[in-house]
Amino acid sequence: MIKNILVTGGAGYLGTVLCEKLLDKGFTVLCLDRLCFGNGPVRHMKNNARFSLVQADILEMNAHSNIFTDIEAIIHLAGLSDDVSADLDRDLTRAVNYEASLNLARMAKNCGVKKFLFASTCSVYGANGDTMVNETSPLQPLSWYARLKADTERDVLALAGSGFFPAALRLATLYGVSPRMRFDLAVNRMALHACATNAVSVFGEGLQWRPFLHVSDAADAFVHCLGLPDDTLSGRTYNLGTTAENYRILDVARLIQKHTQDARINMVPGTPDRRSYRVDFSDFAQLGWHAEHTIEKSLPELLAAIRSTSDPGDARYYNLDTMQKLLQTPAIESGMPIRSTALPFCLPSIGPEEEAEVLAVLRSGWLTRGPRTTALEDRMKKFLGCGHAICVNSCTAALHVSLTALGIGPEDEVITSPVTWPSTANVIVHTGATPVFADIDPATLNIDVKEIEKKITARTRAIIPVHIAGRPCPMDEIHALAKSHGLFVIEDAAHAIGAAYKDRKIGTISDTTCFSFYPIKNMTTGEGGLVATDNDALAEKIRIYSLHGINTDAWQRQAHGSQAQGEVIFPGFKYNMSDIQAAIGLPQLDRLEWAIEQRKNISEQYDDAFTGLPGLSRPRAIDGVRDACHLYIIILDVEKLAIDRNQFRKALLMENIHTGVHFFPLHQQPYYRNRFGFKKEDFPHAAYIGDRIVSLPLYPKMTRQDVDTVIQAVTRLIRFYQKA
Ligand SMILES: Cc1ncc(COP(=O)(O)O)c(C=O)c1O
Repeated sequence: MIKNILVTGGAGYLGTVLCEKLLDKGFTVLCLDRLCFGNGPVRHMKNNARFSLVQADILEMNAHSNIFTDIEAIIHLAGLSDDVSADLDRDLTRAVNYEASLNLARMAKNCGVKKFLFASTCSVYGANGDTMVNETSPLQPLSWYARLKADTERDVLALAGSGFFPAALRLATLYGVSPRMRFDLAVNRMALHACATNAVSVFGEGLQWRPFLHVSDAADAFVHCLGLPDDTLSGRTYNLGTTAENYRILDVARLIQKHTQDARINMVPGTPDRRSYRVDFSDFAQLGWHAEHTIEKSLPELLAAIRSTSDPGDARYYNLDTMQKLLQTPAIESGMPIRSTALPFCLPSIGPEEEAEVLAVLRSGWLTRGPRTTALEDRMKKFLGCGHAICVNSCTAALHVSLTALGIGPEDEVITSPVTWPSTANVIVHTGATPVFADIDPATLNIDVKEIEKKITARTRAIIPVHIAGRPCPMDEIHALAKSHGLFVIEDAAHAIGAAYKDRKIGTISDTTCFSFYPIKNMTTGEGGLVATDNDALAEKIRIYSLHGINTDAWQRQAHGSQAQGEVIFPGFKYNMSDIQAAIGLPQLDRLEWAIEQRKNISEQYDDAFTGLPGLSRPRAIDGVRDACHLYIIILDVEKLAIDRNQFRKALLMENIHTGVHFFPLHQQPYYRNRFGFKKEDFPHAAYIGDRIVSLPLYPKMTRQDVDTVIQAVTRLIRFYQKA
């Protein structure tokens, strides 16, 4: 005898009545519900030791796989439960009603649950005029809701076997009183209108057929199913209702008229509801069950309940109103998340080409720096149009080796932006030099040339401009300044592969330019970086520094046998790229232009959607540059919003959208603060945007729908939290 039952949607209209009945019959009930309508309707059951409540969305079942322990049967009621609510957001409805239901059934089967009773609907029969339909009749689902129910039935029932016994029960239209009352169901709605206005509205001619079932009878029928032999139900569909309770809508109105003080029947002309189904329930009756109620006998109870309801217009009695509210409400405020699955902040685009290249390297027997790294360097040199391209194992290494090869050391100062990844300044510290920050231009987020000028001293040796998000810094102005003070320029172009400044590719302008091939970048090698330079002597030095300070690399030494052992010229680093990394990079470079175009398209979709949205702005590029579109950064006008940036990011996470911050200003980081005594206000523009910026997902793998969900989520949050 089955004892432990999981009821999904157990705090709903049918679920509450069902849970009560199950408890009365001695079952142990685990009620799983998202509690869109609050926990009021199940509160009275909480003291029963055999009742437990899990507040969860069936979209998140994977996080609740432990709840199946000891469960012998599941009655699956959860879902968006009417045609109009189901149309509000069709993707969401599909995710909840179809995908999550199927996932639940699969999990149940894997966990050894025996019975799975799926609540479907007779509306899968669609438009049948006066014809009586039964379980063998063709399905004609007219609404999205009914279509998804039909699809779910089919795919859940297909799981039957190996000790799993699923059944689909096509419910007639419910009515009657429940602890979680609804006034949007035909009988309940007409009865309410009759009480409130002494009139019952009938749309069209009211000739369409519907079968009706009291909510208490529906609950009874599910309990009855639990006692049936497993095989009786397994893989089968039953209509759940009672044949004598098929009515034309106009006849229901007449019954209500009879039981109220002769409420008027108000015929509302218009397109009649095409759905009409008159349903035969004899199969289920043969299982030994019959309904207790009829509409006629139940109306006094229903009318009495309506008359004692003080606020029958409240949204909680109407699924559509509640859903609409939930869809406008951020998930963090208990609304429906915009997405049902997580959208990562970034995903690399790795295809079969990368896989084949890497496999070829693995099989070649030569894994470290070798022919593929050389090939990538040659290809990068051509792509950038620079004299030398030296592959290293990160942009951090590229920056460090550049500074070292240029002879930057303990007595020196190097000027850079406080809005950057820590490595830009860390490597300055590693050389023994002092990092000096110059504030940013808040319009572009790039270093402000006027601020650089203010920071130049007799000890200044170099400037490291950072092209934030792939938008080039004003290189002419920076070089003019560098030239007049005899300074080196090392570009941190971690974000800027493919960018250009006035017809010149980034990578061809300064003493060295350092790129990153980290996984989220426009192109990746897993981890990796590159130094571009036109200076032959410097290139040679950088090569040597990046491999222990030895004047030949392993490929030259062993494969070409040029020298038994190279010589250590100075103490270098172990910064070389491996051929495994280069193997990923070669096809990535082939697709780089495509990837930038994809990023640009998505950025433009964001731009279009966010233009004019108060509370949000965008950094801009200076004139005459090509933006590599690496990041899409928004700046929140937090003064206009009721939440701060961190709360905004958390709210987006609750919508299932991951974000980044580029960057938390370095002068506010403990090491820099403590060592150099920086205060937040020392770099007011950096500090200002540091509290306001958010980077949204931006990568070629995003679908149009992914982009739309980000737009919807950002817009929802900005509107919801807009201060009056
Ligand atoms: C601006 C900037 N500079 C340098 C780096 C360091 O790059 P890598 O991880 O390749 O060392 C990053 C990394 O994201 C970056 O964003």
